[in-house]
Amino acid sequence: TRKVTITALRSLYKRGEPIVMLTAHDFPSAHVADAAGIDMVLVGDSLAMVALGMQDTSELTLEEMILHCRSVSRAVKSAFTIADLPMGSYEISHEQALESAFRVVKEGRVQGVKIEGGLEMAPTIKRVTDAGIPVVAHIGLTPQRQNSLGGFRVQGKSVTGALKLLQDAYAVQEAGAFMVVLEAIPPEIASTITKKLRIPTIGIGAGNACSGQVLVQIDMSGNFPPGRFLPKFVKQYADVWGEALKGIKEYKKEVKSKVYPSQEYTYPMSTEDVAEFKR
Ligand code: KIV
Ligand code: NA
Repeated sequence: TRKVTITALRSLYKRGEPIVMLTAHDFPSAHVADAAGIDMVLVGDSLAMVALGMQDTSELTLEEMILHCRSVSRAVKSAFTIADLPMGSYEISHEQALESAFRVVKEGRVQGVKIEGGLEMAPTIKRVTDAGIPVVAHIGLTPQRQNSLGGFRVQGKSVTGALKLLQDAYAVQEAGAFMVVLEAIPPEIASTITKKLRIPTIGIGAGNACSGQVLVQIDMSGNFPPGRFLPKFVKQYADVWGEALKGIKEYKKEVKSKVYPSQEYTYPMSTEDVAEFKR
């Protein structure tokens, strides 16, 4: 398997072939995403909520992100891998942003970073890009700012909101972002932004006119207990929870009833040796 490069991603975009991005948060989830031939793996800070059980993404530290990046990058042979810069690891100064971006690349072994924010983050995006680190921007619903957005809410539904999104999209493109994630915005707005930009847009809850799509693996693979809240845009493609639960219940039953481990799961010894041992 050849490594997906930024050039390969650009040619997918030029050909009009949708770019498929999926999150991975650890070694096994990265392994399966890569085996499926996903173009881009994102070590998203959704990690905080879906894999570490935190209330929101604001709790995640750079150290924690780096640890998970290391486990993901060890499994990925092909996909272009990027990581979210966690809240508080890039906003203080350009130096802080550069230092954090260098750490996830050098220690986490990922190829690029994702930074939430539009116009206001453009100078930061430029600095990180200028340092040779590919940046994916992220506009629309930016979960790290849920407290100031008033929760996980659709963005750009009003004309003013949509115009602001377009302004953000242009700003991050001009700053050097090589791609932009559009989260939870009406499909018409995402379609317009996609047509106007010369960099790929990756949608999540943004309709199918984007240059690609991203989902959180744990959500789309159904790796969570029934009844959990799911955003409207999530399509569940598998039932990993159901499969795991079935297997684990069976294991429990077989241990309780001594069906497991049967002979085939044990290490044989010659009958003579057994006899001598027992003497
Ligand atoms: O953290 C994440 O998983 C993300 C994607 C959902 C875009 O930012
Ligand atoms: Na994220």
